[in-house]
Amino acid sequence: AEHLQIGLLGFGTVGRGVYRILTGNGESVKQKIGAGVTIKKILVRNMDKDRGIDVGPAKFTTRVEDIIDDPEISIVVEVMGGTEPTLDYVSRALQNGKSVVTANKDMIAAHGKQLFELSEANNADLLFEASVAGGIPIIRPLKQCLAANRISQVIGIINGTTNYMLTKMTEEGSDFDDVLREAQAKGYAEADPTADIEGYDAARKLAILASIAFNSRIGLDDVYVEGITRITAADIAYAKELNYTIKLLGIAKETADGIEARVHPTLIPHHHPLAAVNDVYNAIFVTGDAVGDTMFYGQGAGELPTASAVTADIMDAARDLLRSVPGIISCTCYEEKPVKDMGA
Ligand code: NAP
Ligand code: HSE
Repeated sequence: AEHLQIGLLGFGTVGRGVYRILTGNGESVKQKIGAGVTIKKILVRNMDKDRGIDVGPAKFTTRVEDIIDDPEISIVVEVMGGTEPTLDYVSRALQNGKSVVTANKDMIAAHGKQLFELSEANNADLLFEASVAGGIPIIRPLKQCLAANRISQVIGIINGTTNYMLTKMTEEGSDFDDVLREAQAKGYAEADPTADIEGYDAARKLAILASIAFNSRIGLDDVYVEGITRITAADIAYAKELNYTIKLLGIAKETADGIEARVHPTLIPHHHPLAAVNDVYNAIFVTGDAVGDTMFYGQGAGELPTASAVTADIMDAARDLLRSVPGIISCTCYEEKPVKDMGA
């Protein structure tokens, strides 16, 4: 049987999850794609860290060239985060003809255009399902299953850390800093949690979703952003008294005046389905002219939910490689559309 070797850039929360799924479900992965997948090398910063997991014959390295220049490695899985040096590593991997799978919304939101062009030019897959809403399938549904629609709006809870925090603050009266520490300990938060609590993480995800949904280019500068740092216990108590709950929403709409995109805390009536989305769960409403309203729901962060999306992308990249058709999924034919100035 055929066999594919992959390299991981990063072995933190998500990287460990990918390792666990590929080892735990390895047989079923092999059955489904018709080839085995093994992790050959793993890039980390610190070789001496106790990772509490035996990675078998896979080898840790601090030299990215051991992965991106290794002719035996066909898929590079970027789960290290940030844009530097990640953008350089991913660009070089694509230029070497490697398929790339990434969970990195910072990089896709800021540098997606150049990466999609590189992917297309090098006939290499660039897949990023895990970059938005962790384990929830949303990139592929927007790009493929809903592609026949003109989409009018995408509205969602797209940050697990802040939804976990708001849930605990609302239901248990927890303190902001304590509950942020809990979210970090559970592996939900970004390396620098400022991106979560100030709304930038949700803004990056919204820019990615809106770009795909409206077949245009929505940059970070196009998104109005307000996080949850100014939400007080009194705000939460008043909202509760009035039968509302506070959620951090990402809202993107295509209107006659252009595309608008914003992230901010929003009062939601208790009977609304988004009010029932708690803890680390995320949900995204998408409205299309043919399909009507759809809603996608699941765990938006965390080791195994996120690794579920990354591993599915690895399997898709593997299928494309086995059929010698990598790169066809990346399309750079977007339309230039007016975008409303949100004063971002
Ligand atoms: P993490 O736990 O902080 O792990 C990052 C890993 O990357 C670590 O193993 C680290 O090495 C390695 N690394 C970082 N910078 C490096 C560098 N310059 N050179 C070599 N190795 C480097 O991060 P994570 O939570 O797994 O997140 C990874 C990515 O997935 C991010 O883009 C994040 O936004 C995205 N994501 C995360 C989640 C989630 O729930 N956590 C969900 C969706 C998407 P050391 O171990 O040696 O320090
Ligand atoms: N920090 C992010 C969140 C990880 O809490 O949603 C998932 O992208």
